[in-house]
Amino acid sequence: MMDEDFARLQRETARRRTFAIISHPDAGKTTLTEKLLLYSGLLRTAGMVKNRKGGRLATSDWMAMEQERGISITASAMQFEYRGAVINVLDTPGHQDFSADTYRTLTAADAAIMVLDAAKGVEAQTRKLFAACRLRGIPVLSFINKLDLPAREPLSLLAEIEEVLGIQASAINWPTGSGRDFIGVVERATRDLLLFEKTSSGGAQRAALRRLPFASDEARAALGESAHSRLREELEMLDVAGNPFSREAFLAGQVTPVFFGSALTNFGVEPFFDAFIELAPSPQARLALAGDGSLALDPVQAPFSAYVFKIQANMDPRHRDRLSFIRVCSGRFERDMVVKHIRGGRVLRELRLSRPNSLVARERTTIDEAFPGDIVGLINDGFAIGDTLSARAGIAFPELPQFPPEHFARIEPLDLARRKAFDKGMETLAGEGAVLVLRPYEQPLASPFIAAVGRLQFEVLQYRLRDEWGVETRLTPLSYSCSGWLEGDVARFQPTPGCQLARDERGRIAVLFPSAWDREYCLRQNPGHRLLEIA
Ligand code: G4P
Repeated sequence: MMDEDFARLQRETARRRTFAIISHPDAGKTTLTEKLLLYSGLLRTAGMVKNRKGGRLATSDWMAMEQERGISITASAMQFEYRGAVINVLDTPGHQDFSADTYRTLTAADAAIMVLDAAKGVEAQTRKLFAACRLRGIPVLSFINKLDLPAREPLSLLAEIEEVLGIQASAINWPTGSGRDFIGVVERATRDLLLFEKTSSGGAQRAALRRLPFASDEARAALGESAHSRLREELEMLDVAGNPFSREAFLAGQVTPVFFGSALTNFGVEPFFDAFIELAPSPQARLALAGDGSLALDPVQAPFSAYVFKIQANMDPRHRDRLSFIRVCSGRFERDMVVKHIRGGRVLRELRLSRPNSLVARERTTIDEAFPGDIVGLINDGFAIGDTLSARAGIAFPELPQFPPEHFARIEPLDLARRKAFDKGMETLAGEGAVLVLRPYEQPLASPFIAAVGRLQFEVLQYRLRDEWGVETRLTPLSYSCSGWLEGDVARFQPTPGCQLARDERGRIAVLFPSAWDREYCLRQNPGHRLLEIA
């Protein structure tokens, strides 16, 4: 590679920030994403991204779902520039959209922003997503949102993060209060008070900031004597009793820096984004399998490599096709480059990567090049989740993690004459990671059943079988509600009543249980075995 090209690759890699926003529904993820677009100059006024309103959508209509939810479902990844950094935001739908996809998407992120509602603290979905980040060793920044409404005490929120999530929380700034009293934050490192100026247009424009030394008379006057002294006491207490912050500890996943703000009014949003750019890591070396061992692929030194982490169909009614999303791990991606398509360590074919797409809000644009950390959508059939694309043979990224499914069902075509189309559809969709296919252990010929992390995965599967393969199906739920991947000698495993052993297509063994209680009981009866949360 020429020196200039190398220097450019280095520069481009260093300014990439690839991350996911994780939160419980309604905490403000969409609003914060929108503000990031606003502050990056991509949207002139806020309110364009999000156009849904009110109650939950009927989940059965996949197309309507995509339209209703705007970018939240359509743009699986968005790219734009913010203050010289190239931002790649990955979408991780929460709640009922929760699926194996969500977990896989997190593998493509180098960092995560965790949005918490200041009145609610750590909620169920946040816990699950945080656990997935922790398993991947992804550093997490916390944004405590909705401070413009009555909120819980900031100290109790920090304590909850520590207790429930088991990570140290270190406040980078501190709110002046909540509701009407939330007029600014004190930046702890500089002891400056950042006062927010209300925007007339209700958050449609960026909020101006006034910076004053916290100890100044002006700051005292702005806050009022009693609020100022209360805040001073809180800050002193934090200095003594709070967790120290270091970037190393953050990158190692030991501490989460905490910021306070209101995505709706823009208060505290800009200081947060600026800190995010500073703190979040650029793409780092990724581990790949090579021969019998593994190899750390440096994003700049290693030749082009990427892997497929998500496949999405019917993203846009105007192009009824399938987009496979790859995350570039090393080297420069060029349009029309020829790469090796690797699955399970074997080169399947040589492939020209034509029509690469990048996404900005709703628009797809064709791109000519991409760098480590970038997400590229390829319109190309024949990819499966976890496939590696590489300039050279002999490497493969590890298989993507599979979390234990919680929903199980049998599925069959209503019209038996459509069996062939059904089988073909199932094979393709399972390869795309839409659902997991399991077979009862020791009965490899018994008919398979399907399993998923989120219930919605089944609905999407049925919809797609009908829409793309013309097969109507009948789904019969099975009465298991949790599972785990078996670790230990399967021959010595003593199944307890009601549990079922199954094998997936990669040969992993899952144990299915009617309830969490059955799972606990079974584990007690099998002290030599473990059930893994990820495999
Ligand atoms: P989500 O993507 O995490 O599900 O949350 P989303 O941003 O959609 O926000 C959920 C609701 O909370 C929205 O209200 C949104 O306007 C509101 N919200 C987000 N951030 C803040 C904040 O900082 N302060 C206040 N007060 N509200 C906030 P909605 O009524 O459901 O929708 P909309 O009609 O406002 O769009």
